[in-house]
Amino acid sequence: MKIKNCKWIKPQTVEDGKDGNLVIIENMKDIPFNIKRVYSIHSLIDSTAVRGCHSHRYLEQVMFCLNGSFKLELNDGFNKEFYLMNISCNGIYIGSNVWRVMTEFKNNCLIMVLASNEYDESDYIRNYNKFLKSINYDE
Ligand code: TYD
Repeated sequence: MKIKNCKWIKPQTVEDGKDGNLVIIENMKDIPFNIKRVYSIHSLIDSTAVRGCHSHRYLEQVMFCLNGSFKLELNDGFNKEFYLMNISCNGIYIGSNVWRVMTEFKNNCLIMVLASNEYDESDYIRNYNKFLKSINYDE
């Protein structure tokens, strides 16, 4: 992955054949931060919905697609990559200062997000030009 402050997270899995699979995520082991918040995104009935369109100043997150699929765009201000997220994908760690856009929600898409801190609107940058300025400011 070319995107700064991002990486794939491969959780432990137990495959029980016809009885299904387990996916196991342990705090501070599989996830590189102390999980302070978990939220889900669901009921994405409009496949043209667009979510995200922001970066975070400090917040770290790990995103898993638990059902269906969606397209995730990550952009660190220099490189942009697209990933098709679904149940067989690993999670994606998204650190600070990464612009993310989520689109193309399909098949009853269910997303789980693990976050390093409580909700804080002042940690969001929701304007793309401000995001680009914040990247330059940091360098
Ligand atoms: P937002 O993080 O912008 O969603 P997404 O990145 O999926 O597009 O949040 C959408 C709205 O929900 C916004 O008004 C803030 C609110 N919200 C909370 O109140 N608490 C939370 O933990 C989260 C994630 C969002």
